[in-house]
Amino acid sequence: MTSVHPGNRPQLTLVGQGTRHGSRSWLTCLHRCGNACDQPEPNPTDHGHVRDEIARAVGRRSVLRGGTLSAGALLVGGVVATGGAAAAAPGRPGHPGGPGRPPGPGARDGSLARAAFVPVEPNRRDAFTTARGFGHRVVVGWGDPVVKGAPGFDPFAQSVAAARRQFGYNCDYVGLLPLDDHRALLVVNHEYTDENLMFPAGAYDGDEVKRIAIANHGMSVVEVHRAGRPGSWRRAPVGRARHNRRIHDATRFELTGPVAGDRRVRTSVDPAGRWVLGTFNNCAGGTTPWGTVLSGEENVNQYFDAGAGPDPRYAVEYARYGITGAGKGWSSVDPRFDLSREPHEPHRFGWVVEVDPFDPTSTPRKHTMLGRFKHEGANVVIAADGRAVAYMGDDERGDYLYKFVSAGTYDPAGSAAARRRNLRLLTEGTLYVARLVGDGTDDGEHDGSGTWVPLTSHRRSYVPGMSVQDVLLFTRLAADRVGPTRMDRPEDVEPNPVNGKVYAALTNNSARGGAALPVDEANPVGSSRVRAGLGAPLTTASGNRNGYVLELTPDRGDHAATTFTWDLFLVCGDPSAPETWFGGFDKSRVSPISCPDNVAFDGAGNLWISTDGNALGSNDGVFRVPVEGPERGRVQQFCTVPKGAEACGPLVADHDRSLFVAVQHPGEVDGATFEQPASTWPHDGAFPRPSVVVAYPEHRPWS
Ligand code: FEO
Ligand code: CA
Ligand code: CA
Repeated sequence: MTSVHPGNRPQLTLVGQGTRHGSRSWLTCLHRCGNACDQPEPNPTDHGHVRDEIARAVGRRSVLRGGTLSAGALLVGGVVATGGAAAAAPGRPGHPGGPGRPPGPGARDGSLARAAFVPVEPNRRDAFTTARGFGHRVVVGWGDPVVKGAPGFDPFAQSVAAARRQFGYNCDYVGLLPLDDHRALLVVNHEYTDENLMFPAGAYDGDEVKRIAIANHGMSVVEVHRAGRPGSWRRAPVGRARHNRRIHDATRFELTGPVAGDRRVRTSVDPAGRWVLGTFNNCAGGTTPWGTVLSGEENVNQYFDAGAGPDPRYAVEYARYGITGAGKGWSSVDPRFDLSREPHEPHRFGWVVEVDPFDPTSTPRKHTMLGRFKHEGANVVIAADGRAVAYMGDDERGDYLYKFVSAGTYDPAGSAAARRRNLRLLTEGTLYVARLVGDGTDDGEHDGSGTWVPLTSHRRSYVPGMSVQDVLLFTRLAADRVGPTRMDRPEDVEPNPVNGKVYAALTNNSARGGAALPVDEANPVGSSRVRAGLGAPLTTASGNRNGYVLELTPDRGDHAATTFTWDLFLVCGDPSAPETWFGGFDKSRVSPISCPDNVAFDGAGNLWISTDGNALGSNDGVFRVPVEGPERGRVQQFCTVPKGAEACGPLVADHDRSLFVAVQHPGEVDGATFEQPASTWPHDGAFPRPSVVVAYPEHRPWS
């Protein structure tokens, strides 16, 4: 590794250079997921990959509509024949179209669901830019006081004690739970840290940097109040916010479900295997119908030091979970991260956690019944028979989609007893993994059917040779045995409350074509069109660089059903690229979109998509796209985030008047440091601060 700033940052060891993946900086790759893309795909199985099914399906469409033989050409044929590919001039990456149709009935309420807007053009501004007619404000940012006793933020006076009271780094999931008509609780994940951007050179020694970085992980609960215009929110004064809470590395979690107490989660500080300190790498999440927040522990493998060589008892398991090398070096400040001393500590992470934000004294829990993998998030819907169904993605190249169906049923009564029952829903039930199959070559639809293959219930394992506990603790290895479909990094998987379908963001697989993932696998976007920068011409790159959005339809509309149909809703990219597909919508009228990551829905059922790692030269952003009716597939860019940032969240709330967006890692650009930032957003200092923003209608542009 080579230091970016040799000489003046001796305390930082996590600098270097490596392969960039898409437009994501190597710093993002390093800090967020431990350069997962540079490692071999940890799933070594060779059963069906969703790309194969998608290729078959897209190929079918193309064959039917005049395509030729190669994957790329098939797509050219299919899309040109069906969508009328936009002839965007080089340097103007796709024309996002005009102001759109006049707003329909109800639009005059200023709703984000219905308002017509002129899409934001791709750009590289160091700004949060919304469509005209919408305002925005920063609600809360890194270092803001969250709980009593928190000092005001001062990057030169950081400490563990301060970080455990302040808003952590790199906000990700955003949930909003109302307290009353004017107040709500904002619940936010803090996914990972970027020490180069957080710490002034020479101000802290190496171990201090690690300790403070560790404390910047976790979650925050922040009371917010209405601010001025409808849809706008601000954080409440800490002294008046009794629900505020900072969940951090020293917060005690309870393990629930079958793995609680298992010998493989016991450690020297927790010999019973029931209590875990902290939650790490919390990426996306979900808000449950019973008013709690779920959060996914994702790339936790990078925090453990296996430098002394893996414990031979768990060599296969560690490898399948990507636990290799020395990690971030945290073992030098906390021995629990040293696997030669605590081989079971990694087994206590990689779960879905549940937090009750209405009770700041409650013990958050890690639900082992939902399996252990790189959880992006979990989104719960209540099935027709009352059972709770959680949809989940394992964010790794070649890994799987999962769902959990509870044994008990949701109690909609508002009583304390009902709440206690609902809080147990995620502790017993059945965990499934998805298998997708294309349904033939002659129906002209890029679709197919699928099965949720059971892995285990709380009582009985369905995987031969593995116990219930084995399946839940090493879910990836269990799933490998039942032939699920390998996916391109499943991120958010979320049910649409309006049409009852489920939408999965498959963000990209930029490594396809590299040694670890050869291009000879069938793949509809095995040849992607990308831009080296904004305004640069489209060029061809191997791999799925721009991602997909997959639509799943549960059979009979029943989320508890074990069968479904699927449809490739979006093949993302520049609309002038032949491989792209926008649900059949006219490609001359959509915004370019790359690397879908998190999804949300407004009250009309439109899908909102945030992106991570734009391979088209633009900043990331958030997009609105209808999923039904004549506008189905009309992707419009609603906002862009500042330079170097990723758009997370997103959340449409408050009667479709508020769009919350977590602006994660602004300024995380190769070579950037605290002193030499690539971004200073939100422009309240000389350095960037990851922050949650709310956008809202500023006026009524159509009136
Ligand atoms: Fe934290 Fe899957 O992105
Ligand atoms: Ca079909
Ligand atoms: Ca994500």
